Amino acid sequence: MNDVFQFSAGISVLEITYIVASVFFILGLKMLSHPLTARRGNIIAAIGMILAIAATILFHQKDGAPIGNIGWIIGAMIIGTAIGWIIAVKVKMTAMPQLVSFFNGMGGAAAALISMMEFPHISSELIARTGMANGHVLAILLGLVIGSVSWAGSMIAFGKLDGWIGDLRVKAMKYVNVTILVVIIAFIVYIMTRDVQASSELTPLILILFAVAVAYGVLFVMPIGGADMPVVISLLNSFTGVAAAMGGFLYNNQAMLTGGILVGSAGTILTILMCRAMNRSLLNVIVGVFGGGGAAAATEGGTVKEITVSDAAVLLSYSKKVVIVPGYGLAVAQAQHICHELDNLLDEKGVEVRYAIHPVAGRMPGHMNVLMAEADVPYEQLLESDEVNPDLPNTDVIVVIGANDVVNPAAEDDPSSPIYGMPIVRARDAKNIIVMKRGMGKGYAAIENMLFYNDKTRMLFGDAKSTLQALVTEVKAL
Ligand code: TAP
Repeated sequence: MNDVFQFSAGISVLEITYIVASVFFILGLKMLSHPLTARRGNIIAAIGMILAIAATILFHQKDGAPIGNIGWIIGAMIIGTAIGWIIAVKVKMTAMPQLVSFFNGMGGAAAALISMMEFPHISSELIARTGMANGHVLAILLGLVIGSVSWAGSMIAFGKLDGWIGDLRVKAMKYVNVTILVVIIAFIVYIMTRDVQASSELTPLILILFAVAVAYGVLFVMPIGGADMPVVISLLNSFTGVAAAMGGFLYNNQAMLTGGILVGSAGTILTILMCRAMNRSLLNVIVGVFGGGGAAAATEGGTVKEITVSDAAVLLSYSKKVVIVPGYGLAVAQAQHICHELDNLLDEKGVEVRYAIHPVAGRMPGHMNVLMAEADVPYEQLLESDEVNPDLPNTDVIVVIGANDVVNPAAEDDPSSPIYGMPIVRARDAKNIIVMKRGMGKGYAAIENMLFYNDKTRMLFGDAKSTLQALVTEVKAL
């Protein structure tokens, strides 16, 4: 039998360390909310995790003896750390959502494995000792189901974002998913009402429950549009947190419990914030088909006017106030460094340059903040769209680089538009508008953008990186 709930002499040190680790998690999370402190916050949370793991290895006792398999544990940690490190160092910024999804999936898998391993160990002795049979069985079953859904869903999200899994939209899928959910609940209720003292006889049921939960995770994510994945990943992230919290409850491990709850609530808050910034409900993200030029897609809006690189250079160099709106295309082109070079050059010429950062520009939360920070753009120069908007009528030029939806006036003008109600950078309020993109390609919402046809707008076509490179050369020559 497994005596994981039994602590002895080391209890106080262990518990105190867990509380300290939890405080580190909370501080780390708080610091993650600002770019200036985020890096330190990450380190502090990691120290908390190291403390919790070290304390568990050193002080956690089983039957009065230290936990065994230390060699295996340390070996697995070394291998896992090395793999994680290499992947994290090598990953491209644009592949970050996939990576987050993959890592999140691993957390879900770990939580599910814990449940699978612990279920056969539930015994009458354990129940007599803890007096919590139902609580523990429920924690095991929920950890298994939620962890498995998170793992399977995250792997599908990973494949979609990486481009090797497409969307699968069949109308009947909604009903299939609801049916599977009902089956899962029925399984849980059945197992809970069985005699858990004979838990080993119920083990095959646990394996079936695992398979059904995996199927649900796959089918739940399959119909969701690839570009909606960041929202879904955030949701799955909160699932992983809840599954880990179940493990914390099971092992009476306060650090695991706090960590799980923090991840669960942070993931939920982030999901809600992202939906709000896109002006969509979570239900719409999960079951709705976004973009693709539905009935709401505006019709072609007339002719566009182009600008040459040299004219753009002159316009920018002789401006007083310039605002840059970075978007997904800037990230794809990896043009952040050259963009910063341009803003430095303009700054030397006495032009005030600021960036308007839209909360859902790009494809992941904080995408543009991270991108511009990578190019060492000072944080003071990065302003939220709400802060920039009131000053746009006094702005000489707004330069939209690889952004589309986040400057689309349909969000304010067209109630039938899928993005109607989404807060935008009100680019059309500026005195001049330069839009840099490769062609007339649509954005993520796949709808027409009337800003490109605005009288004040001049299109500067080309890949963002090469166009910015040419612009830098021209500005230098002036
Ligand atoms: P988008 O609306 O996706 O537009 C990006 C534009 O970049 C495209 O129109 C494309 O036009 C251009 N582009 C692509 N590659 C380029 C390159 N190499 N050089 C220059 N331009 C290039 O981007 P956005 O304005 O950042 O909006 C983000 C969208 O994603 C929003 O609809 C948002 O709701 C959605 N979304 C965001 C998130 C998060 S959390 N950020 C999560 C899910 C969904 P061309 O093809 O003509 O070049």
